[in-house]
Amino acid sequence: KIRLGIISALAEEQEGLIDAMQDAVTVTHGMREYTTGTLWHVDTVAVLSRIGKVAGAMTAATLVEKFGVTHIVFTGVAGSADRAVRVGDVVVAESLVQHDMDASPLFPRFEVPLTGLTRLPSDLALSTQLAGAAGRFLENEPDGIKLHRGTIGSGDQFINDSVRIATLKERLPDLLAVEMEGAAVAQVCFELNIPFAVIRTISDNANEEAATDFMHFVKTVASRYAFGILHEFCKG
Ligand code: ADE
Repeated sequence: KIRLGIISALAEEQEGLIDAMQDAVTVTHGMREYTTGTLWHVDTVAVLSRIGKVAGAMTAATLVEKFGVTHIVFTGVAGSADRAVRVGDVVVAESLVQHDMDASPLFPRFEVPLTGLTRLPSDLALSTQLAGAAGRFLENEPDGIKLHRGTIGSGDQFINDSVRIATLKERLPDLLAVEMEGAAVAQVCFELNIPFAVIRTISDNANEEAATDFMHFVKTVASRYAFGILHEFCKG
């Protein structure tokens, strides 16, 4: 039986979801509130991870080990790492890379030591379902909003520097977006053999305007997208 874990870093990225849950019960564990209940007929546990790779990893592991989730979806915002990926577009991760991982010369740059992996793959079936839901949701949004699928990078840095994002892009040419939790959740799910997917709405271009764009976007658009896409996803 499926039990879905839904993680977002910030409250704005999960707005309305708790209110949409039936028989919601909230449990506090490890300084986070886990709300279990039924979300559009899907048995769900929703939680805010807070920001960063450790926060994401802690939350994902707890969802699996303490709350028994069988699948995890991470929803939130990200900075663009590609010219074709615009603010307002949606990116579904095919794989995730910890862009600040560097155990060289012991292991190749970006490789997660002792896993042999640089890119941690998301679950294809779950990601395809999520992309389908995003596509249906976006049909009723203004034209020109694109849905992308590809590589998302995560690191413990809010990137607001056009040189830094360009350097990263040179080293990881397939990078579409950057955020701060996805690849940590990916590692936990890989190690625990839990199917997961990551969906991110682009809030900024990871450049000098990123902080301003991010704060504006998170308040206005991110919550509406997360709610709409997850509604489509749970409806099936
Ligand atoms: N999340 C949204 N925008 C971001 C950025 N520019 N860097 C890291 N995480 C982000």
